[in-house]
Amino acid sequence: MRIAVVGSGAMGCVFGGHLSEASHEVTLIDVWTDHVKALNEHGLYLTGVSGERTIEVKAVTDPSDLPVQDLVIVFVKSAYTESAVRDASNLIGPNTTVLTLQNGLGNAQAIGSIVGADKVVAGVTSHGATMLGPGQVKHAGCGETVIGPLTGKLTSEIMALADAFTESGLETRAVDSAESLIWSKLLVNVGINALTAILRIKNGELTKHDEAKELLAMAVEEGVQVAAAKDVELIHEDPVENCLQVAELTGANISSMYQDVRAKRPTEIDVINGAIVAEGKKLGIATPTNFVLTKLIKVIEQLY
Ligand code: PAF
Repeated sequence: MRIAVVGSGAMGCVFGGHLSEASHEVTLIDVWTDHVKALNEHGLYLTGVSGERTIEVKAVTDPSDLPVQDLVIVFVKSAYTESAVRDASNLIGPNTTVLTLQNGLGNAQAIGSIVGADKVVAGVTSHGATMLGPGQVKHAGCGETVIGPLTGKLTSEIMALADAFTESGLETRAVDSAESLIWSKLLVNVGINALTAILRIKNGELTKHDEAKELLAMAVEEGVQVAAAKDVELIHEDPVENCLQVAELTGANISSMYQDVRAKRPTEIDVINGAIVAEGKKLGIATPTNFVLTKLIKVIEQLY
């Protein structure tokens, strides 16, 4: 497959790197010029759970000279989804699939409004990754990836995509619909991301303090209420327990929001805890815990 990764930070490199190793024709796209230069000159240095190696890759900052792709994977931070997809519109032809595995609510719909919802496959991934420096990524945690159509039915193309990912070493499953996946992952991020960024702790530390666990549970439970009011079926029977389990399983991870705060970057708070507040407001559901978490992160961002 001819594949372009739009937003080749840590996660984009983990996916792009594995797919390159499986002989797909991958181009990594990123705005960080030093990173793109290092990738082209020295290859992608990948270390961590999937092993240490250097993978030969092609990387560009500007996608305008690239041909139409079979698959475009969007991995930019949520704030840049629309502009990045518009800038990459020359890569999307009538048969291109556009896949998002980003955190948060609304990315798949935003992409669909630009490229057409029928082209969009959305999903969630449990892989974790951290940038070590230009061209260097730590694959911090391994886990399942699950994908499904944004609208319409599960197709043989989506199943083939899942198989191609699995063959490249990224275990992937295809399901009927992306919505419950996105909401179920959203509730994990709702419980972990803001709290770890505010408390400046790794994911696993959350599970060691009763007060932190209590706040995590309150934030997730508000999300559960909002999801129920929207008739979204959640995958996990007990979303709070699942969130605690993920925090434990990814115990050594620095959550993506804590990474953003450490690097003084804008966070994805608006599409995570902020999204629960916004959706709750529309439905008349009180979301005080998510409100406070959102405001605290906003102040932290202003203090950079
Ligand atoms: O955003 C993240 O960091 C990840 O989605 C997760 C699952 C919280 C693990 O760190």
